[in-house]
Amino acid sequence: MGESAALVKSCLALLFTFTLIVFSSALPGDRINSRRKIREVNRRGPYIGLVTVFATGSFRPDPKYPFIHLAGRRFRIGEVRGRKVVYVRCGMGMMNAVAATQQMLDVFDIQGIIHFGIAGNTNNSMSIGDVTIPKQVAHTGIWDWVNPNSTVDPADVAQLDIGSYSAPKGSGINLLGHIGNNKEQFYSVSGEPNVGERLLWAKITPHWLQLASSLEGMKLQQCVNSSLCLPEKPKVVVGLRASTANIFVDNAAYRDFLFQQFGVSSADMESAAVVMTSLSNGFPVIVIRGLSDLAGNQQGDNAWSKFGSLAASNSATAVLGFISKLPQN
Ligand SMILES: *[C@@H]1O[C@H](CO)[C@@H](O)[C@H](O)[C@H]1NC(C)=O
Ligand SMILES: *[C@@H]1O[C@H](CO)[C@@H](O)[C@H](O)[C@H]1NC(C)=O
Ligand SMILES: *[C@@H]1O[C@H](CO)[C@@H](O)[C@H](O)[C@H]1NC(C)=O
Repeated sequence: MGESAALVKSCLALLFTFTLIVFSSALPGDRINSRRKIREVNRRGPYIGLVTVFATGSFRPDPKYPFIHLAGRRFRIGEVRGRKVVYVRCGMGMMNAVAATQQMLDVFDIQGIIHFGIAGNTNNSMSIGDVTIPKQVAHTGIWDWVNPNSTVDPADVAQLDIGSYSAPKGSGINLLGHIGNNKEQFYSVSGEPNVGERLLWAKITPHWLQLASSLEGMKLQQCVNSSLCLPEKPKVVVGLRASTANIFVDNAAYRDFLFQQFGVSSADMESAAVVMTSLSNGFPVIVIRGLSDLAGNQQGDNAWSKFGSLAASNSATAVLGFISKLPQN
């Protein structure tokens, strides 16, 4: 259930905009052909790289080369708000996010990466429909899993004792023991070559975050339709913290753990991967996520099925706003 929910959630908004654009079925067959196209596309660069699980409504495909297929992904070439973009739907999870981002940066003439999508809300002062543009993002899924009578590595940044989550609290030991949250190994063009630096918080590019701060107060969509509205006007909030793991969080206790231990306001499955990959390669990056659900803190069904499209649309609106703020090159 969680897994299929996650899959549908990731693919959700894809449906609504991809139907807007109908592409010819002619596929670039061989690599040589792709290389020629890539050379020609890059001559007209640089582009803003969009890495997403869904697409923006105002995308205008390039008339000559609307897309190039690489490793099974469709890299679309076109314009958004008059700015040249290459965008790719990476697919769910960190592995997909890294692969698509690295390929985008290696192949195309890119200025920087805007990553967007929807996320679970882990902060009670935020609401469904809000858009978060975090200042930093952690990979919170690197676990050291140890036995009940062992202790987790003191260097770990958080500890989750599985036995203490029994209800009612029992006296028996829980054989699943403890898990300790370890740090990422971060390689980068600005670091020492061949040395992975231990990293928890990957920081969004400061001057892009600064540009984004003027998006606070922008108007967002409040109603899904005439009968389903959010109780309050949704808002853009810049400068919080975000978490990423290959975990679809739909569990109140785990949500609480993430907020308490890491002070994160959102949980998703791709952001940290896109950010770390972009920073590794020395490119500016920003994350723009619409909050679609309460990550398990709800009564009844997860809200993303109702509000996922609205959250996606609000994040796309903020992306368009951000693109308009980027200086023309
Ligand atoms: C852990 O503690 C239990 C109970 O005290 C003991 O039976 C077991 O051998 C211990 N396991 C390890 C790996 O030390
Ligand atoms: C939770 O969200 C509120 C409202 O945006 C914000 O002021 C607060 O700093 C957030 N909490 C944390 C721990 O980031
Ligand atoms: C509004 O959207 C909700 C959730 O998708 C749906 O259940 C409801 O039927 C819709 N109402 C109208 C009037 O379209």
